[in-house]
Amino acid sequence: MHHNAIKVQNLSFSYPDGTKVLNNVSFEVHAGENMALLGHNGSGKTTLLYHLNGLLRGEGLIEICGINLSYDNLTDVRKKVGLVFEDPNDQLFCPTVFEDIAFGPLNLGLSKEEVKETVNEMLEQMEVSELALKSSHHLSLGQKKRVAIASVLAMRPQVLILDEPSSGLDPRGKKMLLDLLKKLEVTKLVVTHDLFFASALCSKAMVIAGGRIVVEGETRKILADKEMLIKVSLS
Ligand SMILES: Nc1ncnc2c1ncn2[C@@H]1O[C@H](COP(=O)(O)OP(=O)(O)OP(=O)(O)O)[C@@H](O)[C@H]1O
Ligand SMILES: [Mg+2]
Repeated sequence: MHHNAIKVQNLSFSYPDGTKVLNNVSFEVHAGENMALLGHNGSGKTTLLYHLNGLLRGEGLIEICGINLSYDNLTDVRKKVGLVFEDPNDQLFCPTVFEDIAFGPLNLGLSKEEVKETVNEMLEQMEVSELALKSSHHLSLGQKKRVAIASVLAMRPQVLILDEPSSGLDPRGKKMLLDLLKKLEVTKLVVTHDLFFASALCSKAMVIAGGRIVVEGETRKILADKEMLIKVSLS
């Protein structure tokens, strides 16, 4: 496996209305690492994530598992990097949970039998097996969030990117999700406002502010730096 799961160099991006969001963002996430991405509301976290699978396109360099992301290889890159949206309703659109999770593997061209095996494995992994035949839209938020993760994991990505996975969950739902994510060996980049969740899941963290990564390091050191947290509007 390539040493860097994600490498971003001098990434800059403005929305068409002129809002400048990313200003020379650079960072690396090593293979096997769990990295938290912290930053106040509107600091550009979601915008940054959308660049990592080519949903948005800025100036600069992005490498996923050693592959330079470009127009030509979006399909290849999207097989390696799985992006879980903050709102599971943006991710789930099939009549049943089973079909939502089967959607990716079917598109990859797996046989019916292989698809079934994959879906069952993902259902178990995210502890949603009993929901397989329900409509995704009839689930609770916690259930939806786990199904959305299962649908992304079904593509067997090497890098899993999660936008606020614990938002809206109750304490038990957060604990359950935390335990499930901890068991996944895949490289993770996790956006969260939940500092406990960040420190429990991710040994490393970085902070985005003013369009740049301003701090990076061990999560417990970052969270202990009260002065810095105030400076970047996280406390
Ligand atoms: N489609 C868009 N067009 C113009 N500006 C946008 C668009 N989407 C987001 N923005 C702006 O870009 C900035 C960053 O937004 P983004 O959603 O990336 O922040 P965030 O860090 O994910 O915030 P939150 O913690 O609230 O989810 C904000 O100022 C926002 O208003
Ligand atoms: Mg966001």
